[in-house]
Amino acid sequence: MALSIKKVLISDNVDKKCEDLLRQNNIEVVCKFKLSSLELIKELSDCDGLIVRSDTKVTKEIIEASKSLSVIGRAGTGVDNIDINAATKKGIIVLNAPNGNAISACELTCAHITCLARNVPAACQSTKELKWERKLYSGGCELSGKILAVIGLGRIGKEVAVRMKSFGMQIIAFDPFVTNVEAHALSIKRLELDDIWPLADYITVHTPLIPQTKNLINKSVFEKCKRGVKIVNVARGGIVNEEDLLHALEEGICGGAALDVFSEEPPVNVILQRLLCHPNVIATPHLGASTKEAQVRVAVEVAEQFVSLNDISSKFPI
Ligand code: NAD
Ligand code: MLT
Repeated sequence: MALSIKKVLISDNVDKKCEDLLRQNNIEVVCKFKLSSLELIKELSDCDGLIVRSDTKVTKEIIEASKSLSVIGRAGTGVDNIDINAATKKGIIVLNAPNGNAISACELTCAHITCLARNVPAACQSTKELKWERKLYSGGCELSGKILAVIGLGRIGKEVAVRMKSFGMQIIAFDPFVTNVEAHALSIKRLELDDIWPLADYITVHTPLIPQTKNLINKSVFEKCKRGVKIVNVARGGIVNEEDLLHALEEGICGGAALDVFSEEPPVNVILQRLLCHPNVIATPHLGASTKEAQVRVAVEVAEQFVSLNDISSKFPI
């Protein structure tokens, strides 16, 4: 039977361009946000497609209860809020929109690195409180001449490397799927992880959160790092072990951390609260992709794939 997407539920705040493009291609669209699992199951009962951002958790329970769902689209990169195994078992296609928000996530990463170097957020807050604490916030260090380790040289990692090079940073990197030749072409030195740790002044992670990358930066890694190393995570919470990071900050092993993502969002557990309150931590509430440009791009990218699926399946029915 040919795949035919006639009705789509958009259950998170995806840019309106997504809805418009689907409607222009004769796909009925329902937009309902903040649904409970039961409400979501009910709404999906006559939908062929579902489009989410990150608020909706598309669990096994929801997938198994769906009667007509054939495609789930994620208006963004990570698909960690969708149970891929359950979807695959039911023959449901899961697609994402990984290209549209890479520049935005990269730019936020670069902003975090520059803020970490010069205590910008804390100095700003103090100045807004009408203090004039030049001495307290002096003593930052130049980025020029420092070594930035990029872990994961995919779409975002590469863009970060290119931009931070223009600050005079030397870039070293690890990615199991990138060759020395490819890295060299970007003026990046590719090294194994154990060679990276003792060299890096800054470490920024840009991998997916998968079993191989969970807790990638942990206590034993901190023991191998330069004292005062700075850590940036705009990828996924959990790649950096948060308890070990807190300990490293408290011991001065880690000189500062900039975090956009957390293992629990919003972060409520005690470790995360202590981490957020640490004076050497800069934090943003998962804003990497939250620019106007990125949100339009991912909305269009995901809708275009839904439309293409209809086109392909009408030309090549199974
Ligand atoms: P990508 O797939 O283009 O790149 C990921 C890279 O990680 C790949 O090159 C892959 O080879 C590499 N990799 C895989 N396993 C690895 C390992 N064990 N060690 C080192 N490298 C490994 O992905 P991307 O679009 O660059 O996204 C990177 C991360 O950023 C993802 O986790 C994504 O979900 C996240 N992200 C976050 C935001 C945000 O709002 N904060 C926005 C966009 C993307
Ligand atoms: C992503 O995976 O694309 C990001 O986490 C951004 C988001 O959509 O919030």
